[in-house]
Amino acid sequence: MKKIVLSGMRPTGPLHIGHLFGALKNWKKLQNEGYNCFYMIADYHALSTDYSETENIKNYVEEIAIDFISSGLDPEKSTIFIQSLVPEHTELHLIFSMFVPIPWLERNPVYKEQVEELKDRDLHTYGFLGYPVLQAADILIYKANFVPIGQDQLPHLELTREIARRFNYLYGNTFPEPEALLTETPKIPGIDGRKMSKSYNNAIYLKDSPDEIKKKVSIMFTDPKRIYKKDPGHPETCPVFAYHKIFNEGRVGEIEKDCKNAIIGCTDCKKELGEKVVLYLSDIKKKREQIERNKKELWEILKVGSEKARRIAEKTIIEVKEKIGLIYGK
Ligand code: TRP
Ligand code: SF4
Repeated sequence: MKKIVLSGMRPTGPLHIGHLFGALKNWKKLQNEGYNCFYMIADYHALSTDYSETENIKNYVEEIAIDFISSGLDPEKSTIFIQSLVPEHTELHLIFSMFVPIPWLERNPVYKEQVEELKDRDLHTYGFLGYPVLQAADILIYKANFVPIGQDQLPHLELTREIARRFNYLYGNTFPEPEALLTETPKIPGIDGRKMSKSYNNAIYLKDSPDEIKKKVSIMFTDPKRIYKKDPGHPETCPVFAYHKIFNEGRVGEIEKDCKNAIIGCTDCKKELGEKVVLYLSDIKKKREQIERNKKELWEILKVGSEKARRIAEKTIIEVKEKIGLIYGK
C-alpha cells in the first residue's frame, strides 16, 4: 500500500514564489516519489477568516488550481480537490468537535497570534477557534500518513495527532497518527526584504507577467550600506543576492565577488536577476496559458478529483459512524 500524503492551501489570493519553493515543489516531488497524494483547496478554511468577503472566493479557487497544476501538480498522479465538494470533511469535523476540549484550541499559539494579527476582522468566532479541528478532519478522513507543511503549521498537526489519539481511545483504533514532513526549503524574502506576504505587498506572483516580474525585481531592496557603486556590498544581507542563489545558481559566486569588490552595480545586478527569474518561471507561465485557454477542463479536473476524494472520505465516515454506534436500519 502506498503511503498517503495530504496537504492543502487556503484560497485567499494568488500564490507567489514563496509558495512555490516552500510547498509546491515539495508536493510535486512527493507525487513523483510514488506517494498517494491528496492536495486540497481549503475553501472552508478560507471562509474562517474571510467570511465577510466571499465574492472573490470562486476566482481564488480557480487561481490556486491554476497555480497548482501549472507548477507541476499532476491530476493524473495526485488527487486535486476542493474541500467543500467533499462534505464528509464537515461531518467528521462535527463529530470531532463533540470531544475536543476547548482549552486545546484556546492554547493553540497559531490561534492566539492570528486573532492578534488580523485586527481588522472579528475572529472571535466558533469556526475560527475550531479551525484546527476542521484541519484534523481534512487529514484524518484520508487516514493520511504524512502531511507536508511549514513550521508554522506544526501546532495544528500536533492537535490532529491528539484528536486521532482521543478518537482511537474513545471508539477503538481507527486513525493513524499522521507525521509532519518538514523539508529544508530556501528562504525567499519579499522584494522589500521582509517575509514575502500578500499583506505586505512585496510578493512576486506565479501569475505575474514577465514585465511585472522585471519591474518588481528592479525596485527590490538591496544592501542598505551600499549607497554608491564604489561602496563594497554585503551580499549576505541583500535580498537580491538571496534570489541569485536560487534563480541564478551558475553565476552566484561571481556576483558575490563582484558585489564585495564594488565591480557590479545594483542596477545591473537586478537587471540580470529579473531576466533569470522570468526564465525560471517561463515553463509555469506556458502551462498557465494553456490551462487558461481551457477553463472548462480545469473545472472538470477539480470535479473529478473531488469525486475521487469523496469516495474515500465516505468510507471513513461510514467506519467512524459504525465505531461510534450511529448505525441505523441495519
Ligand atoms: N491551515 C493550512 C494553512 O493555512 C491549510 C490547511 C487546511 C491544511 N487544511 C489542511 C494544510 C490540511 C495541511 C493539511 O496553510
Ligand atoms: Fe545586492 Fe547585487 Fe547590489 Fe550586491 S550588487 S548589494 S548583491 S543588488
